[in-house]
Amino acid sequence: MRKIVLAAAAAATLGFVGSAAAQQPIIIKFSHVVAEVTPKGQAALKFKEEAEKLLPGKVKVEVYPNSQLFGDGKEMEALALGDVQFIAPSLSKFDKFTKQIQVFDLPFLFDDMKAVDKFQSSPVGKKLLTSMESKGYLGVAYWHNGLKQLSANKPLIVPEDAKGLKFRVQASDVLAAQFQQLGANPQKLAFSEVYQALQLGTVDGQENTWSNAYSQKFHEVQKEFTESNHGVIDYMVVTNAKWWNGLPADIKAGLQKAMDAATEKNNEVAEKLNADAKAKIGTTSKINQLTPEQRAKWKKAMEPVWAKFEGAIGKDVIDAALKSSGS
Ligand code: SIN
Repeated sequence: MRKIVLAAAAAATLGFVGSAAAQQPIIIKFSHVVAEVTPKGQAALKFKEEAEKLLPGKVKVEVYPNSQLFGDGKEMEALALGDVQFIAPSLSKFDKFTKQIQVFDLPFLFDDMKAVDKFQSSPVGKKLLTSMESKGYLGVAYWHNGLKQLSANKPLIVPEDAKGLKFRVQASDVLAAQFQQLGANPQKLAFSEVYQALQLGTVDGQENTWSNAYSQKFHEVQKEFTESNHGVIDYMVVTNAKWWNGLPADIKAGLQKAMDAATEKNNEVAEKLNADAKAKIGTTSKINQLTPEQRAKWKKAMEPVWAKFEGAIGKDVIDAALKSSGS
């Protein structure tokens, strides 16, 4: 009898150990390049909170902000290698992987964030989420940041003011062409290098959203901002297609639900975080407003970029985006 009890106890112990091992949570790394106080930073934390709540003990989400784990230029490769499971690069950074997504970089394409949202929710916008699947990447959500503003250490009121200046751009040929169109010199630089480049004068100016500019302290090294709203910085949350498709159904469903909650949070806070950051920048730097005539001049100066990239992006994609802006 004693033998039976002992055997049962051993089996129970083994069973316990066995199921504990089987229940090791899946470690999910989410890497991004911005500060936690930005829309993307907040959304990544919300994703962690929701995923761990919906899938208790089954997943553990580790969020790495500020290029701590992987910076620009390294994160797509890390995703392909399985060293990270989610990243959310700005849409400008997919240039090397698909030309269609470059539509988001065309200057003055979207009148406001509502138009961006409408396009992303349209059939053509949704299809772009799968445009890199053949390369092993799958888009699972769009996250907003906001419209881009210009800055330098001199007022940028008309396009001629940008002539001869060096502007930092993201790794996008469209953005480089946009500044070339102004007679300026674009320099492709990783996000983590921008502050120092501005400080050392390696570049004279930059374009970004208010929240990115404030959280990276660009206002410490840029005296003049122009509320140009000439383009957009938004994100695609991407994962490794093979890893995603191989997940058990319950995990995938839970993660998708957590992603939806994070997307909602992101889009809820983006506008306010940008407005708050603008107000803070305004206490130390000058914020120049453009008259409709001045804005029209910037638009006219940058617009030739559209024709240059229409073939690569596809007229159908550009037309669908234009439709969202009511044009
Ligand atoms: C980001 O918002 O992820 C960074 C954008 C940039 O590189 O300017």
